[in-house]
Amino acid sequence: MKLKLILASTLLAFGAAVHAAPMVIKYSHVVADMTPKGQAALKFKELVEAKLAGKVEVQVFPNSQLFGDGKELEALLLGDVQFIAPSLAKFGKYTKQLQVFDLPFLFDDIAAVDRFQASAAGQKLLSSMEKKGITGLGYLHNGMKQLSANKPLNVPADAAGLKFRIQPSDVLEAQFKSVGGNPQKLAFAEVYQALQTGVVDGTENPWSNIYSKKFFEVQKYIMDSNHGVLDYMVITNTGWWTGLPADVRAGLKEAMNESIAYGNKVAFIEAANYRDKVLAAKKAEVLPMSKADTAKWRAAMKPVWKRFEDEIGKDLIKAAQGANM
Ligand code: SIN
Repeated sequence: MKLKLILASTLLAFGAAVHAAPMVIKYSHVVADMTPKGQAALKFKELVEAKLAGKVEVQVFPNSQLFGDGKELEALLLGDVQFIAPSLAKFGKYTKQLQVFDLPFLFDDIAAVDRFQASAAGQKLLSSMEKKGITGLGYLHNGMKQLSANKPLNVPADAAGLKFRIQPSDVLEAQFKSVGGNPQKLAFAEVYQALQTGVVDGTENPWSNIYSKKFFEVQKYIMDSNHGVLDYMVITNTGWWTGLPADVRAGLKEAMNESIAYGNKVAFIEAANYRDKVLAAKKAEVLPMSKADTAKWRAAMKPVWKRFEDEIGKDLIKAAQGANM
């Protein structure tokens, strides 16, 4: 009888172990599935569920479905979501150093951004928020930003008096003020409606967001300005991350690295395609920015660098500049 009982409870325990529910991990973001970030998040799910089969399930929430801009960082710190990838312009509350990425006309192109992110100075920034409970797992590209409005923005004077939607960044606020614009910090999910209803006149974003969120429907002109970068840091909650069983953390890190590499490939390859799709829709006119006009925008916005030099660090700005070839 005793033996039977032991056998039964052993089988029960074994059964419970075999059928233990997988750990559910949430990855939330604010953009569309088709974008580099959306693609990276879906790839992460696929890789984790193959590498840690039965142990971990990943739920991906795009388009601000779970948390929008205002809430996602708080939610991560509260443990309500395990991975998010905010734009580098959205960390101002946690570190001032990442503001380096918002400086206008600092990087020549996305390849320069990539080199800086891979450098020792760039990699060090991944742990710049550890004391606040945030661990950076890697950078993810979106692309260079383009200016848009309902009038052509050929020279800085064209921006005077216009209201521009910006991400919650003091550097971006200063950038638009430097050309006489009125910047307004708004969540990404509110941008289309704000442009449609005239709450704001213009904005800035990379091609993937302009296309996937249909900003081209509510902006008459998009400039090929490439005046700044919009990239991401994929982050997690430090306490949760360090408390994971070592094998799970290693599997997640490996999947994260591979998904970031995949998303970055999408960003490099698809940037021109998103632009072509905006052109094909024939709703907004895409205007080139001549070298001479670009020089005017650069000269008007460059004083912003000096203003934020102390907060960001002179050496960091120099290191970022050094990534241009
Ligand atoms: C994003 O790409 O995650 C959103 C960017 C924005 O707020 O403009």
